[in-house]
Amino acid sequence: MGSGPTSRLSGFYNLSLSERQARLAEAAALEADLLATLAGTAGLGPAQADHMIENAIGVFGLPLGVALNFVVNGREVLVPMAIEEPSVVAGASFMAKLARAGGGFTAQADEPQMIGQMQVLGLTDPEAARGALLREKAEILAEADAVDPVITGLGGGARDLEVRLLSETPIGPMLIVHLIYDTRDAMGANAVNTALERLTPHIERLTGGRVHLRILSNLADRRLARAACRIPAAALAFDKFGGEEVREGVIAAWAFAAADPYRAATHNKGIMNGVDAVVIATGNDWRAVEAGAHAFAARGGRYTSLSRWWAAEDGALHGELEMPMAVGVIGGATRVHPAARACLRLMGVQSARQLAEIIVSVGLAQNLAALRALATEGIQRGHMGLHARQVAIAAGAQGELIERLARRLVDEGTVRIDRAQALLREWGPAPKASTGREKPGLGER
Ligand code: MEV
Repeated sequence: MGSGPTSRLSGFYNLSLSERQARLAEAAALEADLLATLAGTAGLGPAQADHMIENAIGVFGLPLGVALNFVVNGREVLVPMAIEEPSVVAGASFMAKLARAGGGFTAQADEPQMIGQMQVLGLTDPEAARGALLREKAEILAEADAVDPVITGLGGGARDLEVRLLSETPIGPMLIVHLIYDTRDAMGANAVNTALERLTPHIERLTGGRVHLRILSNLADRRLARAACRIPAAALAFDKFGGEEVREGVIAAWAFAAADPYRAATHNKGIMNGVDAVVIATGNDWRAVEAGAHAFAARGGRYTSLSRWWAAEDGALHGELEMPMAVGVIGGATRVHPAARACLRLMGVQSARQLAEIIVSVGLAQNLAALRALATEGIQRGHMGLHARQVAIAAGAQGELIERLARRLVDEGTVRIDRAQALLREWGPAPKASTGREKPGLGER
C-alpha cells in the first residue's frame, strides 16, 4: 500500500537490537551514518550540545523505537518514537495494524499559520486605537513581511491582523494585537517573535500606547491537524473479547473522557504519549505542542477529550483526533540535532504539514491502544513485561538474567525490587552480560 518502504516489518519485535537495526536499515535504505545516529552510537555529542543550550555539561539519552504498520494518507511510514515509557511503541504499532485493516489513517493539516501576540497598554481610547490599527493593516502586514525574506520567498509571511479588546483584566483594559503569520515548514516561533519586535514602534505610533509583551501564542488553533481511522469490528476481537464488545467498550471509555475533566486529562495524556514521542524524535518543541493541546482541549470553557470515537452504520469503530500541531521540519533542533534529522529522513516527510499529519495519526492510534486495554483486560498486563525488565535491571540483573528474572516476577505477580533482589541472591552470581534480547519479549502483542 502506498509508496516508499513498507512499515509492516513482521517479527521485528522478536529480533535482537542489532538485528532490528539491520532490518530497519535494509527496509528504509538507510546509509550507515544515519543508522549509527538512530542507533545512538553517533549523533548529538557534548560539543554540539554546547552550542544548543547554556551551561551544557553533556547529553541526556532516551530510548528510540520505531512504530510499525502505519499507513497515513495511503503512504507507508516508519515512525520514530523517543520515549522512556514501556508499551507505548507496541500500542501504537498494534493499533496501526488494526487501522490498516480499514485503510490506515486519513489526516489533514491546516496551513501553518501561527499567532503572534502584542499587548498594548496605557491607552486612553482603546476603541480609537483599534480603529487606527485596522485602517493601517496592509502597511503593518507589509512591514512584517519585510522582516524575513526567506519565509516570504517560500510563500509564507504575514497573513492577517486581528485586534481584540480585553476590557476586564486585573489592571484594566488592554488591547491585544494578533499577527497571523504563515511559517511554512518551520515551527516558526523565531520568525513570529522577530516580526512582533520589529513592528513595535509602528504599533506604538498608531495607538499612542505602550507595547508590553510580544510573543507567539502556543494556542495554535489556526494550525490544527486532524486524523481519522476506521476499524472493522471483527478486527477488534481478541482473547475472550468480541469485536462489538471491544468497540462499545472503547466508546464508553471515550464518553467518560468527553464528560469528565479528571478522566479527560488522563485520556489526553495517553494521546500525548504518542504525539510527544514523535515530536521529540524529530527535534520539535514538545512543550509548545503540549501547551497547545491542553489549551485547545479547554476551548469550550470545560476541559474535554481531544478525540472522538463512535460506531458507524457499517458496525466499524470510527475515531478522529483534532488538535493544534505546531511542528516544523526546518529550523530549531530539527536540523541541528543529528538524530532528529535522521528521524525525519526515516519518515520521508517533505513538509511540516505532512509531519503534523503523521503525528496526529500516532496520537489517535495511541489513544485507541489505551482505551482498548482499559476497556478490556486493563492496562497493567501490557505494562508489566517491560516494567519487570526495568525492575530486574534496577535490582542488578545483567544479560540473560534480566529476561529470566522479569519473567519470574511477572509469573509471580510481584513486580517489586525487593523480590527481584531476593531472587537474584537466591540464584547466585550473574553470568556475563549480553547486549541482545535473548527471548521474545514479555507483554508483546
Ligand atoms: C499512561 O501513560 C496513559 C494512559 O493512562 C492513558 C489513558 O488512561 O487513556 C493509559
